[in-house]
Amino acid sequence: MTMPLSFYIHIPYCVKRCGYCDFNTYTPGELKPGSDIAQVSNGYIDLLIQEGKIARSEVKTTKPIETIFFGGGTPTLMEPADLGRVLKSLEADFGFASNIEITIEANPDTVSRGKLADLREVGINRISFGMQSAVPHVLAVLDRTHNPENVIKATTWAREVGFEQVSADLIYGAPGESLKDWETTIDAALALPITHISAYALIVESGTKLAAQVKRGEVTIPEDDQTADKYLMADEKFRKAGFNWYELSNWAKPEGECRHNIAYWEGADWWGLGPGAHSHLNGKRFWNVKHPTAYRERLEAKQSPIMDSEQLTLEEMESERVMLEIRLPRGLEKSSLTSTSLARLESYLTGGQISQEQWDQGRISLTISGRLMADRIVREILL
Ligand SMILES: C[S@@+](CC[C@H](N)C(=O)[O-])C[C@H]1O[C@@H](n2cnc3c(N)ncnc32)[C@H](O)[C@@H]1O
Ligand code: SF4
Repeated sequence: MTMPLSFYIHIPYCVKRCGYCDFNTYTPGELKPGSDIAQVSNGYIDLLIQEGKIARSEVKTTKPIETIFFGGGTPTLMEPADLGRVLKSLEADFGFASNIEITIEANPDTVSRGKLADLREVGINRISFGMQSAVPHVLAVLDRTHNPENVIKATTWAREVGFEQVSADLIYGAPGESLKDWETTIDAALALPITHISAYALIVESGTKLAAQVKRGEVTIPEDDQTADKYLMADEKFRKAGFNWYELSNWAKPEGECRHNIAYWEGADWWGLGPGAHSHLNGKRFWNVKHPTAYRERLEAKQSPIMDSEQLTLEEMESERVMLEIRLPRGLEKSSLTSTSLARLESYLTGGQISQEQWDQGRISLTISGRLMADRIVREILL
């Protein structure tokens, strides 16, 4: 295999679970009543290193790693020196490209200036802060712990200690968030020293505290039309401030795109280390046991943590390609679709959801109104 491999490294711990989140993450109390993060994560880094060795023995690539992403959970709860040990091990086994991008997701509450400097010191060069909102009542409904002031401090420190790329993650469409509230959040994000913004519409995941509140009628999710207006407002303001959209929910200053995410969207190969992490190698998907205890038990018994795998059929690979590529500005090549699929898109072309200019040059690229109905257009293509 000649493709370079990317690594996703999962850190499955959070101090507290936010009410809307159903990520594979655990508080110390959930894992072991009465314990703290240091106790439950003791030895975890060595397990990641051990799994990295498994990856080395399975993957034949000779290319150096181009991107690594520490996600969570809350990776910034780990000691920077420990994250550095995982990096050293991967570097020794695979080599690093000279321009490697190494990202860490950060909760603005779990960093100090000193910690950020240490993270930079071990080679992490991109950081993505979970800002979500700048409005206290929206943060409260999202059940977030941080104070909006912390985001200003954290992003400023990140730049001061030498992070080249700094991102803020936003969520829109929370219960009780007005258009004006969202504008306040956008303006606050644009006042930060950042190079990248992700903005995702809130998803009410079943089984979360938020889903229970919605079901009991305690909170109401805003209308779809208002959520669409928020997307349009964000795109306009981000664009005016010099952030170009490069994926439906992501905007970046020139050269500020997240290369790790681009690798996912382009169907590259990656290995996910950690409990519940998914991997993709040449059309084969596999994933690890989900719970941190099961993951630990497997590795301590010198067994693979992989729980199951599936080989994608050609048809599944094609659906995946369409779903991912339509989200990008350059879109899909017309010649990659059948004439019946293309015929079904005519109404979107006349309706202005697909760019006529791009169509004439052989591409299917969504306009701003098309971006609001990307899922529907994908279903039309894949009928
Ligand atoms: C793993 S978290 C980022 C790091 C850190 N744990 C934090 O929350 O600040 C990744 C991002 O997923 C997004 N996210 C999580 N659950 C979501 C949901 N139900 N709907 C929309 N976005 C969600 C949040 O924006 C969050 O920043
Ligand atoms: S801090 Fe991040 S990963 Fe943890 S519960 Fe909140 S949104 Fe989920």
